Amino acid sequence: MKIPPLALYAHFPWCVQKCPYCDFNSYTLRETLPEQRYIDTLMRDFDAQVADIDARRISSVFLGGGTPSLFSPAEIARLLEHVRTSLGFEPEAEITLEANPGTIERGRFSEYRAAGITRVSLGAQSFDERQLKTLGRIHSADETRRAAEELHAAGLDNFNLDLMYALPDQTADEALSDLNIALSLRPAHLSQYHLTIEPGTVFAAAPPVQPGDEIVEQMLDRSLEALRNAGFDQYEVSGYARAGQHCAHNLNYWNFGDYLGIGAGAHGKISDASRESIVRTQQTREPRRYLAADPQALVRRPIAVRDLPFEFSMNAFRLAQGFSDELFEARTGLNAALLERALIQLVQRGLVERAPGTWRATAKGFRFLNEILVELLPEAEKPRGP
Ligand SMILES: C[S@@+](CC[C@H](N)C(=O)[O-])C[C@H]1O[C@@H](n2cnc3c(N)ncnc32)[C@H](O)[C@@H]1O
Ligand code: SF4
Repeated sequence: MKIPPLALYAHFPWCVQKCPYCDFNSYTLRETLPEQRYIDTLMRDFDAQVADIDARRISSVFLGGGTPSLFSPAEIARLLEHVRTSLGFEPEAEITLEANPGTIERGRFSEYRAAGITRVSLGAQSFDERQLKTLGRIHSADETRRAAEELHAAGLDNFNLDLMYALPDQTADEALSDLNIALSLRPAHLSQYHLTIEPGTVFAAAPPVQPGDEIVEQMLDRSLEALRNAGFDQYEVSGYARAGQHCAHNLNYWNFGDYLGIGAGAHGKISDASRESIVRTQQTREPRRYLAADPQALVRRPIAVRDLPFEFSMNAFRLAQGFSDELFEARTGLNAALLERALIQLVQRGLVERAPGTWRATAKGFRFLNEILVELLPEAEKPRGP
């Protein structure tokens, strides 16, 4: 096993209003944002986790949520400065802030840039006012347009727009119209997510009617064409980017790199080459409890060796370019021959293709990724036939 790059994820759990489809660890903010206290706690959490690992510089940072853009640029700067003076950043490290268009005042993005942010991910979701209302969003399409203009004006051209499709009663034309409006705002990166109905959400209790498979197929085919024509490459299942503007932080996840996870409910993954082990970490989920907890309350769980091929593939097959045998061996410490039997069967089923030394999903496999992953589950966990 070789030590991979180390990224940092920081979770910010509050939102102005919880969206009815969302099952992320996020909560409607009902009182004053405990801004300083939360940043102080993030820094303590970071210090406690760093104490356990060898000195390694941070390759990328993602401030996600929830809605990190509820936090002031000054507080974000304080957190980043703390990380810089502790482990430090790799040169040109990508530092992304997730932002909700409904929380952006004029001039705010310039201040985030001055605080050290190099990339923004903006939750647009749709540009159809009716859909924005159904989705419980706190912003209008015009506010998203203005936020995108502000990003360009602040010199943060390297931004992502999140869009969702297969929205309630949505037609293929409507999904395409959302995409075209998004592209007209000149993002560097676009993420497109199929709206999923997650257990425990408001939508799960009263599910909206979503378009059928045939319409969804049309949405995907037409979107891919429009994105390609606009110069975007689908480098990941839900991710499209202009040349050289891929999200380094997400690439690190898909390449099974390491990451520290700080903040309420944050997950991390850390390799220890000397012990040939990989540990997953999880912080206390509920914000009040997280704020009150000892940072040592972090839960650490080693990944069992038998689960490693699945855990690695679940990430690496999300990438259009797939992965090399070498990467598998460097990241897991296992012999690539271990995967070969299952992968050759998947090649025979037309779901995976083999180029010398690398494996990747075919166009069909890319759309039905679960069919690939099921074959890579440890034997005892595979679903049995009827
Ligand atoms: C963790 S959210 C954070 C973004 C930010 N809070 C916002 O919504 O503006 C990241 C993205 O996940 C996507 N997402 C959240 N719930 C989803 C669901 N149930 N189905 C599909 N995509 C979802 C949305 O596109 C969202 O922008
Ligand atoms: S704003 Fe984003 S994180 Fe918050 S509830 Fe909505 S989708 Fe979830």
